[in-house]
Amino acid sequence: MKILVTGGAGFIGGNFVHYMVNKYPEDQIVNLDLLTYAGNLETLKPVEDKPNYKFVRGDIADRPFIMELFEKEQFDVVVNFAAESHVDRSITDPGIFVKTNVLGTQTLLDASRAYGVKRYHQVSTDEVYGDLPLDRPDLFFTEETPIHTSSPYSASKASADLFVLAYHRTFGLPVTVSRCSNNYGPYHFPEKLIPLMISRALADESLPVYGKGENVRDWLHVSDHCAAIDLIIRKGKVGEIYNIGGHNERTNLEVVKTILKALDKPESLIQYVTDRPGHDRRYAIDPTKIETELGWKPQYNFDTGIAMTIQWYLDNQDWWKHILSGEYSNYFEKMYGDR
Ligand code: NAD
Ligand code: DAU
Repeated sequence: MKILVTGGAGFIGGNFVHYMVNKYPEDQIVNLDLLTYAGNLETLKPVEDKPNYKFVRGDIADRPFIMELFEKEQFDVVVNFAAESHVDRSITDPGIFVKTNVLGTQTLLDASRAYGVKRYHQVSTDEVYGDLPLDRPDLFFTEETPIHTSSPYSASKASADLFVLAYHRTFGLPVTVSRCSNNYGPYHFPEKLIPLMISRALADESLPVYGKGENVRDWLHVSDHCAAIDLIIRKGKVGEIYNIGGHNERTNLEVVKTILKALDKPESLIQYVTDRPGHDRRYAIDPTKIETELGWKPQYNFDTGIAMTIQWYLDNQDWWKHILSGEYSNYFEKMYGDR
């Protein structure tokens, strides 16, 4: 099979490229990425010389380029990770989220139709369901939970999902959609909670916790997400949505304190800052469908996974220090300077 992975220089796409290149030497993996601020070719170093791997730089929203690429490569499967992925950035600059996440997806769908792709998989998020109250631990997102978005990011991801499902119903395109909870693990860009807190704690810098730190996220190790997507593209039913999550709910404060403890750093580094506008309170996935229909089960619980992840950041300081020394250092000042 020839598989197009978009956004494969990012966090989850990069981990997925590693997973697929190593697991399926008989398949061809083409990684298409624009290399925005979030794309990093250093993430691909471990696979760049493998004969079943190829990198192409380009924009999923660039229609002539995408059409030409699909004509030339004749992909069997498309897995679309490429996106603007950070909620805070979508609050300061929503426009690029519409371009990449909505128009980019629709461009890939048109190309998939035109060139007879056998499976188009859309990597989506639990954020399309909005949030759950903090005082109802009995409630979970199922695939039937209505779309109810909060941020420009989640609105753009939900729009993309609706296009994907519409292309199935209207044109018969063989699609699947997965909606996963918060990922953590290696190669996670240090603007997101866990790598941000690890890298700042290691430098004895303040840790900006939004509001009171009571918001809850449902954490899944990225390799469990990769295994779930692999299963869906091979065994998932066309036209279906699969939620992915492993019942690892933690408040943000619990996560930050776990990191501080593991690094032997004081809790006095925590600094409570102004809350994120529209901040979703709690995410929690009900993964019954993917577990019962496809037999997926996560391998990592949060305690094991976070310990491994912290160790990875300790062992791979060059990877994230390189990012922190570049353009991103200005972003942190801009984002947190007046909070
Ligand atoms: P990321 O920001 O780390 O990576 C995104 C990648 O997409 C980058 O390499 C970037 O260069 C590339 N990209 C951006 N715009 C592009 C364009 N126009 N054309 C081609 N490439 C482009 O994101 P991530 O955290 O790895 O998330 C990947 C996908 O998974 C996203 O679709 C996101 O919505 C979804 N998702 C993320 C999480 C999470 O916890 N991170 C959870 C569920 C779903
Ligand atoms: O649920 C899946 C989503 O998870 C993905 O779709 C998104 O692409 C991904 O970025 C992530 O979104 P979140 O907004 O949940 O992740 P983030 O790491 O930005 O924030 C996690 C929580 O931590 C959230 O409640 C906000 C809080 N936070 C975040 C940052 C960056 C802080 O308290 N301080 C911070 O500095």
